[in-house]
Amino acid sequence: MSESILAITGPTSGIGRETVKALANQFSSILLLCRNLVKATALKQELLKKNVQLNVTIIECDLSNLSSVRKAAKTIQTQFDHIDCLINNAGMVATSRKDSTDGYELMMATNYLGPFLLTHELLPLVMNSDRKQIIVVSSGAYKFVPMKRPFFSPKHFDPITGYGRSKLGTLYLAQELHEMYSAKGLKTTAVHPGMVSTNIGKDNVSKKVGDIIFGLLDPLFVTAEEGAQAVISAVEHPEVYGGVYSHEGKVIAVKKHGSDFVMRREFIDATLEELDLQAL
Ligand SMILES: NC(=O)c1ccc[n+]([C@@H]2O[C@H](COP(=O)([O-])OP(=O)(O)OC[C@H]3O[C@@H](n4cnc5c(N)ncnc54)[C@H](OP(=O)(O)O)[C@@H]3O)[C@@H](O)[C@H]2O)c1
Repeated sequence: MSESILAITGPTSGIGRETVKALANQFSSILLLCRNLVKATALKQELLKKNVQLNVTIIECDLSNLSSVRKAAKTIQTQFDHIDCLINNAGMVATSRKDSTDGYELMMATNYLGPFLLTHELLPLVMNSDRKQIIVVSSGAYKFVPMKRPFFSPKHFDPITGYGRSKLGTLYLAQELHEMYSAKGLKTTAVHPGMVSTNIGKDNVSKKVGDIIFGLLDPLFVTAEEGAQAVISAVEHPEVYGGVYSHEGKVIAVKKHGSDFVMRREFIDATLEELDLQAL
């Protein structure tokens, strides 16, 4: 296959933005899946300055909304017959209880259910490529708490456990992909990029509060460019990172509840039922 195609969610800010900039010369086509088309257009111009020969396609996709995800996937399926590398990067933190258009807790909807559906829809295209690679930007936050029913609309909202469970979900997704498709050549990596200074969580707090909290924490964080390195390494070295959890570039074992097979099975089955899918 001549054209090497990268598809990435959340490339308009932070880790995704630095990742796609660093990979602009390594693929012939890049699909930017974005909810903000103004930011996406500015990013496209920036990428074309880095590589004039690059084909950049903007696909509108709000991951918190399942019909938007289905529409984005359909657009891609009609225009492309393969995707070499899919990076599920987009994510968010909600500091108060909000529900998605489909009625799910917003972090679970955006960070897990939307990316799960997108992955399901694009998987045949990934499997039809030479490279067959999926990167899931998870988080060390998966360690916060084990998964718990009700999975997608918890009775009590807590930002820390809610975020942690949405990221545990992405870890389970990566493990499931590896288990089901690695024998057919799929290379899947779950990445924790580190504590990275980005926009995450900042649009939910007032500027004054944000400046205080993030001003205090900022010295502990690496830059978005540094945080993107773990994602870029996973893309560039599937032979090292295929089928593993990368913690800032180091391959490490996941904690007990992160590799709880029985809970993963229950959670993935509940996801398939919720999304009305037969299989991943
Ligand atoms: N920063 C950290 O310390 C850290 C640590 C571990 C894991 N992570 C993970 O790294 C990933 C990237 O986050 P980041 O830190 O780079 O944050 P960020 O700067 O806020 O970037 C998040 C990206 O996701 C997009 N996004 C958010 N909600 C979306 C939605 N509903 N539909 C489509 N796109 C959406 C944003 O789009 P807009 O530009 O339109 O807002 C943006 O492009 C996330 O999955 C996060 O959980 C981050």
